Amino acid sequence: MNPNVLEAINRQIGAEFGASFSYLAMAAWCEHHKFMGAGRWLRMQSAEEHGHAMKLFDFVLARNHPVRVMAIAEPQQEFSSIVEVFERALAQEQEVSRQIDALYELAFHEKVFAAMAELQWFITEQVEEERSVREIVAKLHMVQHDAASLLDLDRELGARPPEPVAKSGHGHGRHG
Ligand SMILES: [Fe+2]
Ligand SMILES: [Fe+2]
Repeated sequence: MNPNVLEAINRQIGAEFGASFSYLAMAAWCEHHKFMGAGRWLRMQSAEEHGHAMKLFDFVLARNHPVRVMAIAEPQQEFSSIVEVFERALAQEQEVSRQIDALYELAFHEKVFAAMAELQWFITEQVEEERSVREIVAKLHMVQHDAASLLDLDRELGARPPEPVAKSGHGHGRHG
């Protein structure tokens, strides 16, 4: 694989682990503030991001290249409200979408077709992740000043069904 593309995929592995850590910090904040449903949702999202990192990790190794695991920056730990938590999550997903697009563009430019095929899954996944977080942000804005509705929404978030972990190497069903 082209060294620029390999380096960029290794960086993206780090970014996915970073997103996993960030969601974990958000889960901790929510549960500390007794939004247990949101905490559960965010823990699951953290696990999903870990799965994304491992999917690229497995891809790099399958292409017979070395993986470089990088340091993870400390994520934001303090939030003013549950609304801010999910606004931050949306901003993070939008940033990851930009990273995936840039990575795809690089793979295209360098004609690394296997990486393009792998990254297509991530492009589709980002559409779904942005959509789901954007929906939560909108609902939070609707109910943020009504405690009963906010608790209902927290319960709804806590009912998020478990999802299959992303695996590498072959086609995937809908994920998210
Ligand atoms: Fe991700
Ligand atoms: Fe994500």
